[in-house]
Amino acid sequence: MRPLARLTDAALEASVVGSFSRYGYRWRRRLEQWRDPPAMTGARVLVTGATSGIGLACARAFALRGAAVRFVARDLERAVAARDSIVDATGQRDVDFTLADMADLEAVRAVAQWVLAEGGDLSVLVHNAGSVSPTLRTNGAGVEVTLAGQVLGPFLLTGLLLPALAGASPGRVITVSSGGMYTVRHDLRALVTPAGPYDALATYARVKRAQVVLNAEWARRVASTSVVFHSLHPGWVDTAGLRASLPRFAAVAGPWLRTTAEGVDTLTWLAAAPSGVTSSGEFWHDRRVRSTDRRPATRSADPAGDGARLFAWCSSHARWSPTPGLYGQRW
Ligand SMILES: NC(=O)c1ccc[n+]([C@@H]2O[C@H](COP(=O)([O-])OP(=O)(O)OC[C@H]3O[C@@H](n4cnc5c(N)ncnc54)[C@H](OP(=O)(O)O)[C@@H]3O)[C@@H](O)[C@H]2O)c1
Repeated sequence: MRPLARLTDAALEASVVGSFSRYGYRWRRRLEQWRDPPAMTGARVLVTGATSGIGLACARAFALRGAAVRFVARDLERAVAARDSIVDATGQRDVDFTLADMADLEAVRAVAQWVLAEGGDLSVLVHNAGSVSPTLRTNGAGVEVTLAGQVLGPFLLTGLLLPALAGASPGRVITVSSGGMYTVRHDLRALVTPAGPYDALATYARVKRAQVVLNAEWARRVASTSVVFHSLHPGWVDTAGLRASLPRFAAVAGPWLRTTAEGVDTLTWLAAAPSGVTSSGEFWHDRRVRSTDRRPATRSADPAGDGARLFAWCSSHARWSPTPGLYGQRW
């Protein structure tokens, strides 16, 4: 990278607002001379939560590049509208969906069966579905829905789809986390049995941090020749989800928010470009690996133990464990 581009990136990164806003994307794109991600012809991809916002833009970007798109949605009418809009916008007709709430583990098992029954490899799995739950709700097994839908459900789906992902050698699993995770340190106990009254944004931040911890743990366990794992922050993106969860922030930051096309740039690049298979387990923002901590207070004293304990908790609650020796040597 040229010195001016490197300096600008560092200044944007230090400023936070500059980095996460649309200006971060636009300056970096120009100075680093980003090329559009390549074609994905022949790839089959699965995106969760593709009825709006980042998920819809991501599914559209994949379809535009020639990938066969499969997606998960919660609502039939919204799913049909999303599928039709993807087909109309891209001309790619190989777009299909299944219905599931990612917090419902039986529904997640059915998603995996649907993908596996079709046969063939799965090139990319995008864990995008997510929102802030304004009130405390639990799934059928008593797990809080933000945690169930954005950590436990994705964990189970990844585990069940490993055979199809490994067939793509390597398949790519990409988790849409959030800069909100920078506000908290990972703490399994606080994640699964939080003290005090329900706090929607604190719950969301802990869940987004857990996604990053789990991403690194999957990478540690699965050989990168079989499957690679990435987590990322898309930046501040103008979506219905952002406006619903942070209405005041969305109103004030409106002019600086990224478009959804800008918000899915790094995601699409990691899914399509050769650079997406040269590392595993990292946290990305604007096509670069970023630190997972911005303050010493959030730094873990035992990252390996954190990952192992979170994986074990997910494994026991999702009732899925890996077959020893499969896809790597570190189960
Ligand atoms: N926008 C931002 O600035 C920003 C920043 C950082 C991270 N993110 C992350 O980006 C992802 C997408 O958010 P967005 O801003 O694009 O919001 P959005 O427009 O509200 O889209 C969220 C999508 O996820 C689906 N979804 C939510 N919970 C689900 C569940 N339990 N099961 C199945 N589908 C579910 C929604 O389905 P319905 O249509 O049924 O509601 C919708 O399709 C989230 O993980 C969010 O945390 C966003």
